[in-house]
Parts: sequence; structure tokens; C-alpha cells
Amino acid sequence: MTAATDPVKLSKQEVGKAAAALVESGSIVGLGTGSTTAYAIEFIGDRLKSGELKDIVGVPTSFQAEVLAKQYGIPLTTLDAIDHIDIAIDGADEVDPQKNLIKGGGAAHTREKVVDYFASRFIVVVDGAKLVDRLGSVFPVPVEVIPMAVGPVTLALEKLGGKPELRMGVKKAGPVITDQGNMVIDVKFDTIDNPDELEKILNNIPGVLENGIFVNCADVVLVGEVKDGQPVVSQL
Ligand code: 5RP
Repeated sequence: MTAATDPVKLSKQEVGKAAAALVESGSIVGLGTGSTTAYAIEFIGDRLKSGELKDIVGVPTSFQAEVLAKQYGIPLTTLDAIDHIDIAIDGADEVDPQKNLIKGGGAAHTREKVVDYFASRFIVVVDGAKLVDRLGSVFPVPVEVIPMAVGPVTLALEKLGGKPELRMGVKKAGPVITDQGNMVIDVKFDTIDNPDELEKILNNIPGVLENGIFVNCADVVLVGEVKDGQPVVSQL
């Protein structure tokens, strides 16, 4: 791999490498989605190729993770073929001091939630810009919705005080379609006082499949930063 020079890329690369180093031979590994986890997947592949790591299988959280795992030679399995996941590595869009997360920047939060919550150990990998005092400070909450329910769910989200926006594709005309064939409404809230409660309220709206608030789920948050020109990884 060529070393990144952009500080954000360098942070993501280092934190991905640190997380990949935590994977042990013989384990079942949840493979998250996003640009940071992509580095972790690449480094896991490198460790497999060098023979340092043996007998692992991955559980992808998205088509992206599946494609990357195949590219880097990580054997894959599915949730119906296993009874546990040892470790999951995944990124986040925001992390608060209690290690609660907003995820779903890649519209993969539904599968990510299944895999990350199922894992015995969930490692979050972020660059320093993702740390916030309070969830919702910057990032909207992604809500995956079945297509026929977009209208009523949008109205329900407005009633809750949110500003909903249907996520549109980039290099694709029209809305983003998730790996499950649904749509994503990004909802900006002025403040999220109680993430635990909001997560449940959102999931209770008919037509909502899953939202991107992850509460009491992360075991370890690894943070990549560049200090004095050097990449460093710390633990929250
Ligand atoms: C995808 C996610 C990603 O993990 C999250 O958006 C972070 O992505 P990146 O590492 O590219 O910043 O939740 O649904």
C-alpha cells in the first residue's frame, strides 16, 4: 500500500491498521463499511497473505465490504452459518464521549447494526474529526425506509422536530437505494438529548427499517490523528 499524504487519509489508514492488528487467528470477523474500515480490511488481507494470520472468516456488512474482502483474499461466511462473531471492525460518522455513535454515512447502517451488535467485541475506527460532545452536532441521523413509506415517514420525522431530506445518489440519478432495496432519509435534529430514546422512537415509525443511532454497542473506539506530522492512534 502507498502511504497517504493527506492527514485525514493517513489517520484513517493508521487506525485501520491498528484495528486489523487486533484480529486473532481462528476468529470470525465482522467487516464494516466505509473508507476507514476499507483500510482495516486491506490490512487484514495483508496479514493473511503474509501467513501471520490464519483461519479467519469475515461477515460483510455491505456489498462494499464483500467486494473488498474478495479483493484482499478474506474468506466470507453468512450469519446463518455461524453462531457468533468474535470481533467486528466498523467506522462511524459521529462518536460521543459515552461511545454512542451515528452511523450510516454509507447507507449500510441496517446490516452494520446486525453485525456490530452480534459481535463479542466491537471496535470502532474513526479519525479525530468524528468526535463530538453530543450526537447530532454535525451529522444527520440516517433512517432507512421502505420506498412506499417515504411520504408518511417524512411527515412523522418533521413532527418529531427533525429536518428530513431524502438522500440522493452521486453519479446516479434519483435517490440512494440501499443494499436491501430501500431508501434513506437523513434527519437533522437541533439537539439529541437522549440518543437511546430517539433510536427507539425512530424505529417505531411504521415503514422505518432501521436508523443510524448505535447506543451501548461499541467496546473500543480507536481514534486516528496526525500530530506533528506523525500519525498516532489513541483509544477513547
Ligand atoms: C457506513 C458507515 C461508515 O462506517 C461511516 O459512514 C464512516 O465512514 P468513513 O470511514 O468513510 O468515514 O456507517 O454506513
